[in-house]
Amino acid sequence: NSIEGTVCIVDELKKVFEIAITSAYPDLDDPPVVITLSGNNPKFGDYQCNSAMPISQLLKAKNVKTNPREVANNILNKMPLTPLIERIEVAGAGFLNIYLNKAFAEHVLKCILQFGVKPPPVKKEKVIVDFSSPNIAKEMHVGHLRSTIIGDSICRVLEFLNHDVLRLNHLGDWGTQFGMLIAHLQEKFPDYKTHSPPISDLQAFYKESKKRFDEDEEFKKRAYSCVVQLQSGQPDFIAAWKLICEVSRKEFQKIYDRLNINIIDRGESFYQSRMDAVVKELKEKGFLEEDEGRLIMWGNSESHEGIPLTVVKSDGGYTYDTSDLTAIKQRVEEEKGDRFIYVTDAGQYTHFMTIDACARRAGIFKNGQKIEHVGFGVVLGEDKKKFKTRSGDTVKLIELLDEGLKRALDKLVEKGRDKVLTPDELKKAQEAVAYGCIKYADLSHNRINDYVFSFDKMLDDKGNTAVYLLYALTRIRSIARTAQISESKLLEEAKTSGFKLAHESEWKLGKVLLRFPEIILKVANDLYLHSLCEYLYEISSTFTEFYDKCYCVEKDKNGQIVNIFYERLMLCEVTAKIMEKCLDILGIKTVSKM
Ligand code: ARG
Repeated sequence: NSIEGTVCIVDELKKVFEIAITSAYPDLDDPPVVITLSGNNPKFGDYQCNSAMPISQLLKAKNVKTNPREVANNILNKMPLTPLIERIEVAGAGFLNIYLNKAFAEHVLKCILQFGVKPPPVKKEKVIVDFSSPNIAKEMHVGHLRSTIIGDSICRVLEFLNHDVLRLNHLGDWGTQFGMLIAHLQEKFPDYKTHSPPISDLQAFYKESKKRFDEDEEFKKRAYSCVVQLQSGQPDFIAAWKLICEVSRKEFQKIYDRLNINIIDRGESFYQSRMDAVVKELKEKGFLEEDEGRLIMWGNSESHEGIPLTVVKSDGGYTYDTSDLTAIKQRVEEEKGDRFIYVTDAGQYTHFMTIDACARRAGIFKNGQKIEHVGFGVVLGEDKKKFKTRSGDTVKLIELLDEGLKRALDKLVEKGRDKVLTPDELKKAQEAVAYGCIKYADLSHNRINDYVFSFDKMLDDKGNTAVYLLYALTRIRSIARTAQISESKLLEEAKTSGFKLAHESEWKLGKVLLRFPEIILKVANDLYLHSLCEYLYEISSTFTEFYDKCYCVEKDKNGQIVNIFYERLMLCEVTAKIMEKCLDILGIKTVSKM
């Protein structure tokens, strides 16, 4: 049964312990069921239940004379039979040390070998992930790169769990800056309607128009009138606006293509037609207050804590806040979303918490929905200062990716790989390493911290890096290749002689692999990808330990294969499958040779 390969051990343990605890202490309501991983010392078992201490406290408060050890023993006596557990020991001050059942583990791993790495079953949700979201005509900077990488990986983990994920690019594609851009376009390329203007560098174009705007009163006036015409939907002006958006969007697409990112454009402009109605409703319900000519909305009507949203500017225009308020309403009511995730730099945390509070006040959230802000820190250079080029300019993303490619190739050549791989294999490896290392460096750090961008560190083949993991994976893959054993042959062996974790280090690796569903569910819940990276690293180091101690294929001194340990090759195969799935969720392409 394919579903048996997806069991989440920790959740299953929670279930059986809950049964034992409630039957030992039926009078306690909601007793704590605390199950944790035991850590590295095998004498504490594989998992631990630490409920005895808090339960004995609860009982003491009810004047029951007891101690944690006694509570632990009472729980133990009420344990239902379960295939998961081999034995349980009461230790120390009332810890319950849980030892997993090997036969059960072998069965689960065999299912994975047979059916592939499948997601643990969860209730399907519609999840809206707002990520990347650069601004038209401005540059896409390293902050947007982080949002793109983190957001894509969040989508991937949720998609793996079979949720219905809507990947939205909330482009900054509306606003008064379009007035000067259109005015400049009309001036510079008068026939823009018939001949697509050759704007190659939109940022330079933006700078030029800004300069005109700041220096020339006439131009400024025209820019303002352009905004008005655009907002009233004049076809020529809409056409000009579209043109500018397209030029910009094409540039962004180059980055998305390189990084293999799927995303749907739905920028601020999408919500324009809905804003009047939203503002009207908020006004009527009395949520808006006047403040120096503008209309604001507080998240909390009494305390006036934090910063209010500016819903209508003093000139009557709408803002970033108005578009986000309208967007959340659209996402709740039209998209029927269950989860609303926003991936931006940590600096926008307050903004989104205010949107969240206002949406609740305004009755947009009806069933306990909420905004989940996935914040991240700033990207720093190796000097721990804001990330800049050597000459002090901001880094262009395409140039950054190009440098990644160059450095990745250098690394592969340094290791002599250009002599072993075909040109095509070398190119694939180069891209996998370059983009993989940039993504992994970002994802493997706790996102909330600032992070230092260093090609030297991310291309190191020792330590927790993409290069190390990609090498580890190809090495595992090559084990089966040397033995010349196909996957179907392995499956056949698994069916006839079964999956066996005989050696201590096989058992250890098996138990690490069994934690995959637990890690996935955790990441899908808290949206911290670095735990998946830590897990991946743990798999690969535990694998190394296993491979050092256990022969998979035994050869004689002439290099002839004399013995093949099928069970170990099966373990290699499951390890590779799970590692591949983890890398896939991180958006990292794997290669069979590098
Ligand atoms: N364009 C914004 C920026 O560059 C990010 C938009 C994030 N999404 C949103 N719904 N506000 O900072």
